[in-house]
Amino acid sequence: MKKVYIETYGCQMNVADTELVFSILEKKGYSRCEDISQADVIMANTCSIRDNAEQRIIGRIDQFVLQRQKREIIIGILGCMAERMKEALLSSGKVDIVAGPDSYRRLPELLEAAGEGYPQIDVILSREETYADISPVRTDKNGVSAFISIMRGCNNVCSYCVVPYTRGVERSRDASSIVREACDCVQKGYKEVTLLGQNVDSYKFEDVDFARLLEMVAQVSPSLRVRFSTSNPQDISDEVIEVMARYPNICHHIHLPVQSGSNRILEKMRRRYNREWYLERVAKIREIIPDCAISTDVIAGFCSETEEDHQATLSLFREVGFDAAFMFYYSERPGTLAARKYPDDVSLEEKTRRLNEIIALQNSLSLESNRRDLGKVFEVLVEGESKKSAERLCGRTGTNKVCVWDDTSHKAGDYVKVKVLDCTQATLLCELAE
Ligand code: 5AD
Ligand code: SF4
Repeated sequence: MKKVYIETYGCQMNVADTELVFSILEKKGYSRCEDISQADVIMANTCSIRDNAEQRIIGRIDQFVLQRQKREIIIGILGCMAERMKEALLSSGKVDIVAGPDSYRRLPELLEAAGEGYPQIDVILSREETYADISPVRTDKNGVSAFISIMRGCNNVCSYCVVPYTRGVERSRDASSIVREACDCVQKGYKEVTLLGQNVDSYKFEDVDFARLLEMVAQVSPSLRVRFSTSNPQDISDEVIEVMARYPNICHHIHLPVQSGSNRILEKMRRRYNREWYLERVAKIREIIPDCAISTDVIAGFCSETEEDHQATLSLFREVGFDAAFMFYYSERPGTLAARKYPDDVSLEEKTRRLNEIIALQNSLSLESNRRDLGKVFEVLVEGESKKSAERLCGRTGTNKVCVWDDTSHKAGDYVKVKVLDCTQATLLCELAE
């Protein structure tokens, strides 16, 4: 049996894709391997979202090549970088297989041909592929939380973003196959599923929209927690928020990437909403689900961004009071609309300064958000031992906050009630409440 080792970079979607790849390969007699030095096949499932993500992977490929000098192995590049860089990856001579996100069914044959000494590439994007019939091999170590991919690709052409080019057009997966997968997760003992798509609110399969799908998955089992990501401000509907409020097992957390607080920049980014629309959606969420956590993504220093635009982002952060945020500075991606149309004219120094200001602000907002939870009791899903001590457990609230507490009587997968005694900006420090 040939052993396959896969390193996964980038988003949760890629984690789900790696699980599909293991499933496809296991059916053809390969086995999963977690020790790179034992592997016959080494693959990286890659991310192109920012230049530094790609640079890190390129450095890693050189280390794979060192392994190949010691013994006979096959090196494969999967995912977004495979799709973006195509032949350039093969002609480097460093890799044997280049396979884009819609080519994974062909991996067994690509591996076979590469094994005979012929480098292989397949970066054809599909309009239909959703891998609906493939049951992923779960890689979550605790057996608690599983990802379910509900759609692939993206039809929004945000001007900074490479994803529509690397993942192709949007397509939704058969709703019944999603529900079946959620049932299967429950049977295997999973306690939480996260429904994944670049833009979950535009999910549509026959007459099932995202609100209906969310409801169908929530009905699978009352003890299965349901999360989803990512929502787009222009598309998140009142129905989705109402379904969240109706089912106690749908977690009260929405990841709602804002990208900028300036209308001028949002328009240049080709986001299809403005600041006022975004704030209205936040108000709606809080009206229907008062305790809903809201997190976001933001890009500092997009083309032509002025100090005034940057201040608008800071003020939006203050106005919303995000519970958490992923914060980046703009990285020009070749081939995108922004790369073709707008000069990348904010200096690296200025981008870094603005990003650091946003991070400092968000750190204080996260702390404030955690302080609001002092004294509250939450039901958390235990994920395992805390990093620091085997006598402490960690888990998350429905609002996606990390809790730690002293406990030797529960285990991963249990639901436990904890009371918040203290907090840092990243963690709620709790005690068992029952
Ligand atoms: N530069 C910096 N950040 C980016 N993102 C997407 N494209 C870029 C880019 N070119 C960020 C966005 C998105 C998150 C996944 O990555 O904030 O929501
Ligand atoms: Fe990276 Fe985006 Fe591809 Fe995910 S979809 S791997 S974040 S480029």
